[in-house]
Amino acid sequence: MTVKPYPEPLVDVRGLKKHFVKNRDVWGRATDVLKAVDGVSFEIRRGETFGLVGESGSGKSTVGRCLLRLYDYSDGEVRFDGQELSKLGEKRLKPFRRRIQSIFQDPYSSLNPSMNVLELIGEPMNIHGLYRNGEERKEVISTLLEKVGLKREHLYRYPHEFSGGQRQRISIARALSVRPEFVVCDEPISALDVSVQAQVVNMLEDLQDEFGLTYLFIAHDLSMVRHISDRIGVMYRGRLVELADSDELYENPLHPYTQALLSAIPVPDPHAESKRIIYQPHDWDAESAVLVEVSKGHFVAKA
Ligand SMILES: Nc1ncnc2c1ncn2[C@@H]1O[C@H](COP(=O)(O)OP(=O)(O)O)[C@@H](O)[C@H]1O
Ligand SMILES: [Mg+2]
Repeated sequence: MTVKPYPEPLVDVRGLKKHFVKNRDVWGRATDVLKAVDGVSFEIRRGETFGLVGESGSGKSTVGRCLLRLYDYSDGEVRFDGQELSKLGEKRLKPFRRRIQSIFQDPYSSLNPSMNVLELIGEPMNIHGLYRNGEERKEVISTLLEKVGLKREHLYRYPHEFSGGQRQRISIARALSVRPEFVVCDEPISALDVSVQAQVVNMLEDLQDEFGLTYLFIAHDLSMVRHISDRIGVMYRGRLVELADSDELYENPLHPYTQALLSAIPVPDPHAESKRIIYQPHDWDAESAVLVEVSKGHFVAKA
């Protein structure tokens, strides 16, 4: 099989900005604007997992929410399969709301406690008019439940009857019930016990292969992102400071912020702790900084 060096991306983000107005004066003019995302560009290829890392508050979830069109963005473009999403009204967005799904960090608040598993997983299917026949729908849901490691007996149980890991499995089944192509996974394992984190990540990888999914995988835990991601973008204060293939980023981090982030990965060696680098904001962070390709596919912000 010949692989094109740059196949057409499934998701193409260009100059994305999302600013939140924190305060207005009496004339309604913005006096305090938070630049949560301030000019971010990257693409996600079909079938790949693109990791987005950075400390809390760096704008990762806001990027995810813009891609999901949960937010209108302030500037820039998000193309999904060639279609720019910001220009679409709700009606024309609807097919994209099926094709793009999400899994969030907190499986406690994202599942309606008054719905059982059958209803929870069936709800997105109803919204998108899939499987009108109840029996067929139930069969699809049961199969999906098994694929996420749960059982048919769980169909009539409620969220409170499950552990955190199981609830996240229900959320995953719910997201996949409408056969999406792209899933925004926003810290999907951060709230889970360490013992089940790897299981859920492995399952996400298996499901990706089986259903041909493309992932945006948001995390602040760098060790897990390396494992799952093909490429990784590092966010700092609303901007990407580095972007590279996963292994390249870990073996050859170029931006001082990435280096600091990597130095903070907990390692079992107690002496390594002293080598932790504390990142000091820098002239690198100048608003004029742009991503420069320093070697093939490896981009770093330079002022
Ligand atoms: N709906 C919102 N309204 C106002 N400010 C927001 C909103 N969502 C996020 N922010 C702010 O935007 C910044 C980036 O937040 P977020 O994207 O959640 O970061 P991350 O996911 O990297 O932790 C933070 O300063 C946060 O407080
Ligand atoms: Mg977040």
